[in-house]
Amino acid sequence: PTITFAQSSGATTEITVAEGTSLMRAAVTNSVDGIVGECGGQGMCATCHVYVRPEFTDQLPELSDDEDEMLDCTTAERTDSSRLGCQIKMSPALMNIVVDVPADQV
Ligand code: FES
Repeated sequence: PTITFAQSSGATTEITVAEGTSLMRAAVTNSVDGIVGECGGQGMCATCHVYVRPEFTDQLPELSDDEDEMLDCTTAERTDSSRLGCQIKMSPALMNIVVDVPADQV
């Protein structure tokens, strides 16, 4: 599956990863600006906050209570499309997903 990270500057980075790789891990491994992943993917830091484009929201894994709570701690404003990148594992259903990277993460 391929993930496109869109920066607020308009720059985009496309990354192809193995199934099961989290969006956060893909970004950090490839030095994508604006995704920090401070807690290493445990859903404890909210520095992997992304805005998932609406056309992909139906395919996302369900929001857990823990993720929901952590999303209240994001630096950039939380919206209906906010998710934690570490909680999104790539699957065929998410092929070619596009996410917007918040301007501020910490
Ligand atoms: Fe810390 Fe996602 S990497 S919450």
